[in-house]
Amino acid sequence: MTRKSAIMFLAASTVGLFISLTSVQAGEAIEGTAKADKLEQCVEPTPVMRRNHFEFIKHQRDLTVRQGIRGSKHSLSGCVDCHARKDASGKAVPVNAEGQFCAGCHDYAAVNLDCFSCHRTIPGEK
Ligand code: HEC
Ligand code: HEC
Ligand code: HEC
Repeated sequence: MTRKSAIMFLAASTVGLFISLTSVQAGEAIEGTAKADKLEQCVEPTPVMRRNHFEFIKHQRDLTVRQGIRGSKHSLSGCVDCHARKDASGKAVPVNAEGQFCAGCHDYAAVNLDCFSCHRTIPGEK
């Protein structure tokens, strides 16, 4: 590379970097912005969550809907509150959006959820 082309290259990559930094737009989740990103532990040890998380919430759904039991550490809104990330404008990004916490793993595992047609996908009021 000549000196001149090296300078051109550096200038071009600086512009490229600038563009990529400023192109984090509203709607795009930012890593590190979920409560869970700052914590060590889930509501159960991680290997247990990986294997059994759906048992917890499915089981609880049955208990809740049939018997009116609420407010355990396995509530679905709890999962969403802790695991949802935020975008550049501070708005919560749905946990079932492409690549986000629940969907990122489910798409990979080819799991299809019918929960969020009724349940909130972002933290919010009860
Ligand atoms: C047809 C609507 C509907 C669908 C679909 C649905 N739920 Fe629910 N769910 C409800 C209703 C209604 C309640 C009880 C009202 C409440 O507690 O807010 C509830 C309560 C719950 C609760 C206890 C309250 C809470 O926020 O944690 C959990 C956990 C839950 N559902 C999980 C699930 C999961 C997991 C799925 C998907 C596999 C799902 N639900 C799909 C309607 C639905
Ligand atoms: C108070 C915050 C908090 C709540 C509430 C919470 N989690 Fe977690 N969760 C975490 C943290 C922190 C980790 C990462 C632990 C680690 O790195 O080992 C995690 C890990 C997980 C994992 C494993 C991820 C992986 O990469 O293997 C799953 C699955 C999970 N959570 C699902 C859920 C579900 C479902 C709920 C609701 C029943 C829930 N979490 C509620 C904080 C939370
Ligand atoms: C580490 C990967 C991973 C993460 C993260 C994850 N899941 Fe799952 N989930 C799975 C796998 C794998 C299955 C299928 C398990 C099976 O069928 O044996 C599953 C199944 C489920 C089911 C049961 C679906 C059905 O129809 O039987 C529910 C409900 C569920 N997940 C909810 C959630 C929610 C809510 C979150 C986000 C808070 C989440 N999961 C995050 C891997 C994950």
